[in-house]
Amino acid sequence: MNPLWVIIPHASHYKRDICLNRDQGHEFSPGKLLLFITGVPVRPVITNSVTGNNILGIYQYYALERMDMPAQHLATLEETSEKSANRMNSRWLITSAVMCSLMSASALANSLDQARRIYDRLAGVPPTTAVLNTMASDISSSNATAAAMLAMDSPAFYNVTLKNFVMPWTNEAQTVFAPLNDYVATVIGVVKDNIDFREILYGNTYQGNILYTSGLSGLTTYSMTDNKHYEDLEARLSIQDVGGINLRDDLTRTTQTAHMDIPTNATAGVLTTRAAARAFFPDGTNRAMFRFTMKNLLCNDLEQIKDVTRAPDRIRQDVSRSPGGDSRIFLNACIGCHAGMDPMTQAFAYYDYEYTGDIEAGTETGKLVYNAPGMTDPITGTRVKKKYLINASNFRYGFVTTNDDWQNYWREGSNAKLGCSDEPNNSSCTGWSSSLTGKGTGAQSLAEELANSEAFASCQVKKVFRTVCEHDANSTSDLTKIESMTASFKSNYNLKDVFATAAVYCMGN
Ligand code: HEC
Repeated sequence: MNPLWVIIPHASHYKRDICLNRDQGHEFSPGKLLLFITGVPVRPVITNSVTGNNILGIYQYYALERMDMPAQHLATLEETSEKSANRMNSRWLITSAVMCSLMSASALANSLDQARRIYDRLAGVPPTTAVLNTMASDISSSNATAAAMLAMDSPAFYNVTLKNFVMPWTNEAQTVFAPLNDYVATVIGVVKDNIDFREILYGNTYQGNILYTSGLSGLTTYSMTDNKHYEDLEARLSIQDVGGINLRDDLTRTTQTAHMDIPTNATAGVLTTRAAARAFFPDGTNRAMFRFTMKNLLCNDLEQIKDVTRAPDRIRQDVSRSPGGDSRIFLNACIGCHAGMDPMTQAFAYYDYEYTGDIEAGTETGKLVYNAPGMTDPITGTRVKKKYLINASNFRYGFVTTNDDWQNYWREGSNAKLGCSDEPNNSSCTGWSSSLTGKGTGAQSLAEELANSEAFASCQVKKVFRTVCEHDANSTSDLTKIESMTASFKSNYNLKDVFATAAVYCMGN
């Protein structure tokens, strides 16, 4: 069968979405193209392995309609797309066409097919012939891992696959359609430099004080009050999958304290990046930072980990003990999340994102602020931000935050084994590190608690598996694989190894 690559969208998981549509009964066949409404921005240009044409890689957003389109019309289409992309900044422009690859899992994939699939899953673009051949020969000599590592050397792995992998963790809408930011850059940096992945939160070497910026000349310098540094860098990323400016070569490790006015012991990895602060600290009660960290980095939204058996003594005053006049609701619902969440969210008591303007419209000016020792909030009279004491009259006898001491009540009860697989051979697994105490002071030690959890390890593996294999674990062998990958990940916390193992596992046979 002919390889049916025609136009490959940026992120392999979008391609997966199209393929899923096919699986759900939509018909995709050679010569049929999908017209998409795309989001911004429209980049990079990638090369079509069949025709050699440059094709716009696109962020498709929503399938609009199907149409017949012979291959020779592609060039015109591209031209039009490029023009419209240049002309318009609109979020809603119709730019290009995408055709789904019809490779099926059961196809007789030889090592060339396997190499192509590995490259596609990791880089999201077609490989050069030379790279493809090297990978194929690695695969035939039983060294598929080397083939995967070679694919991960592609700039597109960093510029596209990893960027889109991380971006949804950095905003409440969980979208990839957002500009490059310090959170994403820091995670990509940790992966590219083979750093212990726990360092994105807290690890022994950098202890939360880690940040990646670019040393390229001509970029706006990093600022706590805007994202221009990263937007400038993103605008200059090479649109080809060869050399040029890219996130593999043009990100450098630095410290947060070199760029931000927060003390060393207030750094908590990605949680204290500007992007995370802007997404999860504005307004509210700082619980969003905790919730989205659990969701994005431990793969457990609070709904999944509610436990109504925990003591409610640290639940703040703003949570009514008899919502709607019914105390049973508090006991059966509210406690489930708040008993565990509130004492952990206390770690962020001295932080806020202060801004003026409209965050949703992206027109605000704001920055992460932190009450260092000696600073007091005018309302609370302590270092605690006033948001921690709002709506105190909802339940006067509720917990009053006076410092940033936190405690993990979920070390006991149904979350004691959070993140452990249910496999019988896994019965000794514990959700939380026995070398930590489950309590501490400030965001940095909370970040350490979370980074060393079983859920953090298994979560990264599950997310990589989904990205690379293009489906969640759905068979016994998948689940066993995830379990063994989690165990290996915990031996070195190298995320590239996880990508390689998943790519090899899903390369087809
Ligand atoms: C599934 C978990 C969950 C349950 C159950 C839950 N909450 Fe919450 N609650 C949250 C999260 C997460 C936030 C933070 C939301 C945000 O800021 O984005 C929150 C925030 C709040 C706030 C602060 C709102 C603000 O920002 O001013 C109050 C008050 C509150 N919850 C009360 C309750 C009450 C009362 C109940 C029971 C009826 C309840 N919650 C049940 C998760 C939960």
